Amino acid sequence: MRGFRAYRIHDDGKFGDGRLESMTPEEFDSGNVVLRIAYAGVNYKDALTARGRARMARKFPLVGGTDLSGTVESSEDPRFKPGDPVFLHSFGLGSHHDGGFAEFGRFPAEWVFGLPGGLTLFEAAVLGVAGHSVGVALELMQKNGLVPGRGRVLVNGATGGVGSIAVDLLSKLGFDVVALTGKIDESDYLRSLGACEVLDRRSVDFGAGPLGTERWAGAIDSVGGTQLEWLIRTMRRDGVIASIGNAASNEFAGNVLPFILRGVRLIGVNVNNPVESKLRIWRRMAADWKPRHLERIGRRIPFSALPQAFEDLLAARVRGRQVVDFSLG
Ligand SMILES: NC(=O)c1ccc[n+]([C@@H]2O[C@H](COP(=O)([O-])OP(=O)(O)OC[C@H]3O[C@@H](n4cnc5c(N)ncnc54)[C@H](OP(=O)(O)O)[C@@H]3O)[C@@H](O)[C@H]2O)c1
Repeated sequence: MRGFRAYRIHDDGKFGDGRLESMTPEEFDSGNVVLRIAYAGVNYKDALTARGRARMARKFPLVGGTDLSGTVESSEDPRFKPGDPVFLHSFGLGSHHDGGFAEFGRFPAEWVFGLPGGLTLFEAAVLGVAGHSVGVALELMQKNGLVPGRGRVLVNGATGGVGSIAVDLLSKLGFDVVALTGKIDESDYLRSLGACEVLDRRSVDFGAGPLGTERWAGAIDSVGGTQLEWLIRTMRRDGVIASIGNAASNEFAGNVLPFILRGVRLIGVNVNNPVESKLRIWRRMAADWKPRHLERIGRRIPFSALPQAFEDLLAARVRGRQVVDFSLG
């Protein structure tokens, strides 16, 4: 291994700026396991970091990329041997520690998970941190009483990475899933993942006031802002909303009446959960919670397409999950 390709973010005096370049093993970040990276998911956060849209990069230069899968090249830790298939995400990858947008990387063994049977390396990367967050959300929603018989579940940002996986998984588990999207021309895609109804964002009256007609038993919100306000107002009694993301806004305005009159539950999803919890969820994502359409949700892109992938993601032009496939050049 000599020089290899990497997408690195450099200090530009603001929040950082990224570019395709080459790096060497001497520049590896800390760790005791060297990986040959096969696939790396492109996340919303990665696009923000690469384009310096938010203060995400905590060291420079920084290899971007929050999640990846690949094989062990060498390991100083006895738990791993060359050739083992592995994946990893979170732990500050792509913000505090070099991430997945490089052909090789070095990571602490504690962050590296063996690939569970039932998932290919590509499928693990399609799921990535987006899939893990949907698994965390599902577990929390179930703990809060959500079962298929209670009513419809709304997924917004439905064509996005989190949204696509949520539509697929929830419908597989027997929920009636309503997909809310800004890309109504992707209705066939959303129905093919299992949505029973597709709502066009432009034709929904998001309304106002403390309470609206009760519609949803559950909701997965990766958008925030006005849509989250509307969800809170339109949940059924004891309805549960998993707040995963902020693709539209960090902020929302609210009223306590849905909480005290309808028992609406708003729960936060954070993937910096304990390792045991990560492993438990990944075992299920590889088995009974494995989405049925990962090949349709994931789109392989060459490494050289990363800059365009970031632009497309930030402009909400992407359907599903873009995954860098290092074998494509
Ligand atoms: N909690 C966690 O640990 C965790 C984990 C993963 C991701 N996230 C967060 O979840 C969010 C979604 O992530 P992702 O990977 O799914 O991103 P993504 O693939 O870019 O999808 C986001 C989707 O949201 C919708 N959207 C985008 N901008 C919007 C706007 N201004 N108004 C309304 N809808 C908009 C679009 O879907 P439609 O066109 O279909 O509406 C877009 O495709 C991000 O904020 C991300 O940071 C959080």
